[in-house]
Parts: sequence; structure tokens; C-alpha cells
Amino acid sequence: MSFRLFPVEASSISAEVDQLLFFLLAVAAFFTVVIFAAILFFAIRYRRRSDNELPRPIHGSIPLEIVWSVIPFGLSMVMFTWGASVFFRERRPPDNALPIYVVAKQWMWKLQHPEGQREINELHIPVGRPVKLTMTSEDVIHSFFVPAFRTKQDVVPGRYTTTWFTAIKPGKYHLFCAEYCGNNHSGMGGWIYVMEPQDYEAWLSGGTPGATLAENGQKLFENLACANCHKSDGTGRCPDLTGLFGKDVKLADGSTVKADEGYIRESILRPEAKIVAGYQPSMPTFQGLVTEEGVLQLIEYVKSLGPNPGAGQAEGLAAPGSR
Ligand code: CUA
Repeated sequence: MSFRLFPVEASSISAEVDQLLFFLLAVAAFFTVVIFAAILFFAIRYRRRSDNELPRPIHGSIPLEIVWSVIPFGLSMVMFTWGASVFFRERRPPDNALPIYVVAKQWMWKLQHPEGQREINELHIPVGRPVKLTMTSEDVIHSFFVPAFRTKQDVVPGRYTTTWFTAIKPGKYHLFCAEYCGNNHSGMGGWIYVMEPQDYEAWLSGGTPGATLAENGQKLFENLACANCHKSDGTGRCPDLTGLFGKDVKLADGSTVKADEGYIRESILRPEAKIVAGYQPSMPTFQGLVTEEGVLQLIEYVKSLGPNPGAGQAEGLAAPGSR
């Protein structure tokens, strides 16, 4: 096995992140050399030669001050714009990304595919396709870290965080927990398996053909009797959920909120937090009645109720140009 200074570049942003890092290292190394050389040079050139020698005072130099202000300003602006551009691309998942749901707990990673497959400490994904992770924790803060993808994102209890990547090389890559989370933190790792699309399809169709995430969510929706109030014809005591996902929702306090994963999760666990305009705060909390995995299934179910697929696709097509 050969010695590697860096993990393989296995995602679409790995190379960019590395180039930015090398640039920052090069700037730091360059100025380290310049500063130490200057210290050495001045220490010798301007050493005190006799006990009563007085140096000639200087009273500033405008050109010198301009030079040492403008050069660092330019350099830091290069770092800022370059870093921000990589950061924004690394933060914004494409609309067509494959959704994967992650629930972390001491000390394991539980992952769910929309098709219903569940994995623990393993994730199988296709090569060349963007994958978006929606993540939460059942207990403490964990952090989802895949060095080969140059991606690391904290996983926080009580809210969703997201990350995304496009794997560009089939293979098996380390997954780590990068946030100290208790006794077995060091053992909280696993593997990402990046597969050729046809192998991925075969993997998906293999194993136990369970219900999809949305179907499980529908079952949960029925078991919890949500439909008693959330009637699909809009006559219920609670808002109709058809076509809700991704839409802007008007709230009783006059503000507007986008119906994303975080909003739906909050509405299930803390229904009184955001009341939809025109409705009474009559919904009980489901905190403690639904697991984090159950909440994710319910979200997939709500997603499956709309919005109409045509609108979603148009948005997806428009996105690359607008980015
Ligand atoms: Cu989970 Cu460290």
C-alpha cells in the first residue's frame, strides 16, 4: 500500500477544495519564508555596532504603506471570492439530487433510501449522481465526515442539517463521525459504497423488497389518525397537505414560511410553533410518539402528495443556468 498524504479525490468538489487548500498553504508558506528572511536580514544588516550608536529615525513612507495595504487586500479578496464560490456550490444541493435520510445516534449511522432500503453504518450510492443527505440526531451532536468527498457536516438533535455530493469514482470510502459524541465516538464510522448505476439498481432491487419511505409514512399517517383533521378535500380542521411540499405557507402572524423538511418536522413535533393563517392551534404534539425515522417517513409521504411533478421538473431544468 502506498503512502498517501491526501485521501483520494472521489467527489465532484474534492479537486476544487484541494486546489483552494494548496493556494492557502502556498500563500502562508511564501509569507513565512519572506518574514523569516527579512528578520534574519535586518538582524544582521542593522545590528548595533557600538554601545552609543543611535539609529536614524524614519517618519513613515506613503508608497510603502500603500503597497503593504493593497497587496494583502487583494490577496484576501482572492481568498474570499474563491472560498465563497466553492462554499456556495458545496452548500446548495441540485434539485435533482437523490434524497437520503440520515439519523445519527450514539454510536451509529442509520440511513434510509426513499425506495425503503435501510442501512446501518453503510451507504450505497450511484456514481455520477448528486446525493442530498437530510440529517438529524436522536441524542447529541455528531458530524458526518467523508474525507474522500471533502465534505463534513454537523448532525444536530432537534433540527435538520443537509449536505450533498456527487461521487465521481466507484469504490469504498470511509465515513467518520467527526464530533466527539461519547465513549464510542471513535467507533462511530462506516463505509460509503459508490457503485456503477446498473450495480446500484441491482443492489436496490435486491434484498428484502420493503415498503417505500412514503408508503411507510402513509401507514404512520393512518395509524396516527392524521387524516381525521388533515382532510384532502380541505374541509378538515387542519390544512390539506396535498401539494404542500416546497410551497410558501402564510402563517397566522402574517409571515410566510417555505414548507421544507424542517418546517414539516417542526409542525409534527411542535405544532403550536407556526400556525397556518385561518386555522386554530388545535393539533397536539407528536413528540415522543414518532421516532426521528418516523418523522422522515411522514415527510416523504407529504412530499409524495405533490407539488405537481411538472412544476418541480421545470424548476430543475431552470436551475443550472440560474446558478
Ligand atoms: Cu458520533 Cu462522534
